[in-house]
Amino acid sequence: MSLWGGRFREPSDDDLRKLNDSIQFDRALYAEDIEGSAIYARALAAADVITTGEAEAIVSGLQKVKREFDDGSFKLMAGDEDIHTAVERRLIEIIGEAGGKLHTGRSRNDQVATDFRLWSMRAADRLAIALRQLQAALLDVAEEHVETLMPGYTHLQPAQPISAGHWLMSFFWMLERDMDRLRAARARMAECPLGAGALAGNPLKIDRERLAADLGFDRPSENSLDAVSDRDFVADLLYVTSLCAIHLSRLAEDILIYSNPAFAFITLDDRYSTGSSLMPQKRNADPMELTRGKTGRLIGNLTGFLTTLKGLPSGYNKDLQEDKEALFDSLETMHRLLPVITATARSLQLNPEAMSAALSEDLLATDLADYLVRKGLPFRQAHHAVGEIVRIASEAEIALSRLPLSKLRQVSPVFDEDVREVFDFSLSVARRRALGGTAPAALRLQIERAREKLQA
Ligand code: ARG
Repeated sequence: MSLWGGRFREPSDDDLRKLNDSIQFDRALYAEDIEGSAIYARALAAADVITTGEAEAIVSGLQKVKREFDDGSFKLMAGDEDIHTAVERRLIEIIGEAGGKLHTGRSRNDQVATDFRLWSMRAADRLAIALRQLQAALLDVAEEHVETLMPGYTHLQPAQPISAGHWLMSFFWMLERDMDRLRAARARMAECPLGAGALAGNPLKIDRERLAADLGFDRPSENSLDAVSDRDFVADLLYVTSLCAIHLSRLAEDILIYSNPAFAFITLDDRYSTGSSLMPQKRNADPMELTRGKTGRLIGNLTGFLTTLKGLPSGYNKDLQEDKEALFDSLETMHRLLPVITATARSLQLNPEAMSAALSEDLLATDLADYLVRKGLPFRQAHHAVGEIVRIASEAEIALSRLPLSKLRQVSPVFDEDVREVFDFSLSVARRRALGGTAPAALRLQIERAREKLQA
């Protein structure tokens, strides 16, 4: 028997139930549902709709239901279409008629919105902890590699020497922005819909400020019609997880490239590499590929749900039930990825020799142009002159530093003996010490600032 059976002569069709029921997945909301109901029962007593005795009976009945879910003994019955109906049905079985008073003035519409917001707030907090762990791992490894040099790339072509710590820290800041977005989303979702009723509001003398505060929200929602159909908070979290996964995916891609033997900048830890069933020599980075791959799925959850929301008429519509599987899946996926990525980052073994072997002198071409600028040449002329020098060296198949001074002077007379000092990768890196640059001095400051963020 369903909770809304009065109006119907016939029971629901089996196939309809399979489509309509959400209990298979929304039972994950049982703790939040029960919390919301307990607080609502007390609010009903405070509004003199039920007696204090009835409220206490409801609360202790709900606690029993909670224990049944906790220990796995809760038995689903036919007619338990979602978590709300299942809990209420069981409550009435346990405490009798008083249980039937709980839903006074309440609708599953404000109930589910409340439950899911509560769940999402907690999910945001859990995700924040996992992101912080990854940030801490990146920071610790970066700190060990402030002075490790590697080629930096643009267009995946060697560009300028950078510090490996600087490379790692770039991901710290991407995640810092994800943390920011998560905090903002968390603040927006902390709005309590309970007391909005089905759409028009609550006819009883319910103190919604108190309801919100008792449930741990920052404030009650302002408009009952908006409150029951607003799922922006779900879209927010789906977006935050998608963009964060995009960052993880880019880190994964770098790790894939740098661990390729052609680069050999990184050796992956045995525990986070996989082998081949056919080729005995293989060391694959499947977890990194899965990170890249699952990012597509997270973006799919976001675009799928945005499409669900588009064009819904005012008020609650059953389409909204699609919010849960999308968000559950995105968060579960994040929590599957993050521990592995964090451990991969922590166990990342950088190979400084391979990195410095990959530093070729053409990565210092910009420094050579800067040298000419110090000698008084406008940068444009300096750029052109060095371009010519790079071409001459490449045609002669020798390194830039092997070109005799006389050759350099044919291109620009301002070249002098001191040009030799340009051909020093560490010096090139050390020169970029303006705030945010790759120089050890700047990087140490960057790391210090990052530590402060972690402690905040
Ligand atoms: N299972 C539903 C959902 O997740 C609960 C709300 C149902 N409300 C209704 N009027 N049918 O959206």
